[in-house]
Amino acid sequence: MRLKAYHLTKSYRRGQTHFDAVRNVSFSLTDEAFVCLIGRSGSGKTTLLNMAIGLLSPDSGEILVDGNNLFSLDEWQRSDFRNEKIGYIPQGRSLLGNLTALDNARLPFHLQRRSGDSLQKARELFDQLGISHLENSYPAELSGGELRRVALARALINSPELILADEPTSDLDIDTAREIWNLFSSLNEQGVAFLVATHDVELSHRGNATWEMHSGQLTQEVK
Ligand SMILES: Nc1ncnc2c1ncn2[C@@H]1O[C@H](COP(=O)(O)OP(=O)(O)OP(=O)(O)O)[C@@H](O)[C@H]1O
Ligand SMILES: [Mg+2]
Repeated sequence: MRLKAYHLTKSYRRGQTHFDAVRNVSFSLTDEAFVCLIGRSGSGKTTLLNMAIGLLSPDSGEILVDGNNLFSLDEWQRSDFRNEKIGYIPQGRSLLGNLTALDNARLPFHLQRRSGDSLQKARELFDQLGISHLENSYPAELSGGELRRVALARALINSPELILADEPTSDLDIDTAREIWNLFSSLNEQGVAFLVATHDVELSHRGNATWEMHSGQLTQEVK
């Protein structure tokens, strides 16, 4: 999948003033990409990620997925596109409190009509992520790092082509954070593209490109 963004801008209002959370940002993501998106808090990383996959409409600009304009699709079609192709790990807590950890991870599989079942895949992912013992726990019973890993299993359940992760290791100890980045690297070698917003400077060197946001603007550096 090739995802291209052209001149994305998103403005918000604060008090009497308008400001650009993202200003005139263009980029291209290929199948092999492993991009780390860095930048200070408030620089526009989450806003950019949300626009990149059509969760948030830009005020101006375009996103093309394999040549097709993402915002010419209706909301249902965009949602199908995300469900099929994208694994998203949002910033902060995002699991549903009334489902077990395993059912949270399985949920995206069941949002569309698919053959087969998600149970075996979900169990394999839990095993890989070292959280098999937490299958039947509810989110309220899990630590920050455990919640992260469940969210990661959920992002992987439909074998996405692109994973967007927003500060995926921000509340993890360094060893667990390394394990998660190792997993990202090995998935990337298997052909999954990554765009990861992170404050984790040490681990961000794992990517093959670093993009930096500064007051809504993007500078790109490819290693
Ligand atoms: N819905 C909104 N309404 C108004 N302002 C918003 C909204 N969402 C984000 N902002 C503002 O836009 C700017 C960019 O926010 P964003 O969440 O994209 O930053 P970020 O780089 O992800 O920060 P962090 O590293 O803290 O997650 C911030 O100043 C934020 O306060
Ligand atoms: Mg953010």
